[in-house]
Amino acid sequence: MIPWEEIDRAKVPGHEGEIILLKRGSEFSIRTAGTELMNSRVHGSEDALAELTCRRIKQKSDIRILIGGLGMGYTLAATLEQSRPNTRIIVSELIPAVVRWNRKHLGHLARMPLDDSRVSVRKEDVANIIREKKSFWDAILLDVDNGPEGLTRKANDRLYSKSGLRTSFFALCPGGILAVWSSKEDQAFARRLKQCGFTTETITVRARKSGKGSRHTIWLAKKP
Ligand SMILES: C[S@@+](CC[C@H](N)C(=O)[O-])C[C@H]1O[C@@H](n2cnc3c(N)ncnc32)[C@H](O)[C@@H]1O
Repeated sequence: MIPWEEIDRAKVPGHEGEIILLKRGSEFSIRTAGTELMNSRVHGSEDALAELTCRRIKQKSDIRILIGGLGMGYTLAATLEQSRPNTRIIVSELIPAVVRWNRKHLGHLARMPLDDSRVSVRKEDVANIIREKKSFWDAILLDVDNGPEGLTRKANDRLYSKSGLRTSFFALCPGGILAVWSSKEDQAFARRLKQCGFTTETITVRARKSGKGSRHTIWLAKKP
């Protein structure tokens, strides 16, 4: 068995923890607080987050999509695959090292999505970007943590609170979709989405493309 080799580590802004990039042969792993946040071999549900959302976006000439959390770039790559040439995608990544890792070590895993001219990267908290605009985004895709209970960063909880969900609601165009990835079901969160005015679908997806692996949850919350 090839041992894991540490490639780099970085501090998580606003948190005591660190995030670590490891490599074993052609496999990569991003870990924090002793937990694997991402593994390059398992991205079925990260792809599904994009595919399920893009299928539901109303087709029009200028689509604007915000993705919170670059990770290994799989959600971004799947969004690009489903998008037309004039779609604009902003990907927000809190940890500058993750952007650097994508450019230097990880880009080939997801067909170099940062090189696509439809994509702009902002190295900052997605919560700040959501707050900037009203009725602007056709979709906001959030995969910044383990789900509504933050693991990387306690401050992410505000994205999933009622006030955070209302901010996303106002930032979306009518018919726009807030899509949220989670490692598990959370009925209280589904209720909060409804209380904030969204019509919500809760979808269970498997971690692996083959239909195997853990069950993850994706909420697709539509602004009527
Ligand atoms: C699980 S990974 C995302 C995986 C991604 N969907 C993919 O396909 O590879 C979570 C990412 O969100 C980033 N992140 C965490 N909190 C964030 C925030 N508040 N704003 C923007 N990015 C954040 C983390 O640094 C990490 O890169």
